[in-house]
Amino acid sequence: MATQQTVPAGAAQKPSVRPTNPRFSSGPCAKPPVFDLNKLSDAPLGRSHRAAPGKAKLLAAIETTREVLGVPADYKIGIVPASDTGAYEMAMWSLLGERHVEMVAWESFGAGWVTDVARQLKIEHTAHTADYGKIVDMAALNYDHDVCFTWNGTTSGVRLPSGDVIPADRKGLTLCDATSAAFAMDLPWDKLDVTTFSWQKVLGGEAAHGMLILSPRAVERLESYTPPWPLPKIFRLTKGGKLIDGIFTGATINTPSMLCVEDYLLALDWAKSVGGLKGLIARADANTAAISAFAETHDWIGFLAEDPATRSNTSVCLKFTDDRIADGAGFAKAVAARLADENVALDVGAYRDAPAGLRIWCGGTVETADIEAMLPWLAWAFETEIAAQMAQA
Ligand SMILES: Cc1ncc(COP(=O)(O)O)c(C=O)c1O
Repeated sequence: MATQQTVPAGAAQKPSVRPTNPRFSSGPCAKPPVFDLNKLSDAPLGRSHRAAPGKAKLLAAIETTREVLGVPADYKIGIVPASDTGAYEMAMWSLLGERHVEMVAWESFGAGWVTDVARQLKIEHTAHTADYGKIVDMAALNYDHDVCFTWNGTTSGVRLPSGDVIPADRKGLTLCDATSAAFAMDLPWDKLDVTTFSWQKVLGGEAAHGMLILSPRAVERLESYTPPWPLPKIFRLTKGGKLIDGIFTGATINTPSMLCVEDYLLALDWAKSVGGLKGLIARADANTAAISAFAETHDWIGFLAEDPATRSNTSVCLKFTDDRIADGAGFAKAVAARLADENVALDVGAYRDAPAGLRIWCGGTVETADIEAMLPWLAWAFETEIAAQMAQA
């Protein structure tokens, strides 16, 4: 942790303006600006989630998700346990094994799905991976196989620019972990058979609840294929060879938190009030543009994403590029600590498995004014830390 004593005399002046909200975590992400605990008072607490008020709330969460994200009417949307991890694991364990799988990863969460397929499911697959900052060539994959990938690499800040290269007439299924993409990026539903995300990400909802979106072809696979391994109850999407339809109308597999449901409904309402998906994308783009402008005028910092077309507009990952920095990881940690100590940017250190640097969440719940107020503090923290290190050298 940086301390006052390490700041040499004559170091940079502290900026005078602070962000109103210093929360730039990449998950759980900042609550919508209108959030207030008192607004959750309509949650049917202490009631069964299977009673009419609870079921109505769950169905509203599903159908408002469909409305805001533009999910086609013939796609199924379910609320499932264990957040995005639960939703994605459930999909992999229920659907894979019917054919060869192309496992695609360009950062640690995608790499985790590759490990699952290789070491847990132990199915025939080909791994396609790229280092942090780079992306896999999605055009080079065989889409007659199933394809598992993560749309936005939360820990590298590298995202798929579009789904254009995914063929419409593919024979395999595409399984997309879209947890830090949904509500911030355009997702081409016709190219995605399984899409998952968690409430705690882009809309700033609560943890532990995941969303599973299935195309008609994914449902067809579920109803025609039974994996050879046992499936725990928490993963089971079919009964007697038929999709359990209730899961997709609000009859959840197990008990959800109605407080979290109410919170998600509030976030969805706010999303609609800022122009729905278009408005959310514009807000994330504006936040990212503010950081781009800063990076262009400060030669000591740059994006981890090498190709600007792949730069995320949610999890913006930055690296320090100043030659005077001897210990990259120590330096980045010290800068993040200075920002946290000043309460101007919380939780902005790079992910533990990612290259040293900073990760600043830019999803729509973050106000551009707060990003703009934080950036001079980043310059202050950088200059102060450089001065401290030079003084020690
Ligand atoms: C791409 C990606 N996948 C999966 C996860 C895990 O999400 P959760 O903790 O909501 O299950 C995260 C969390 O940051 C993520 O960024």
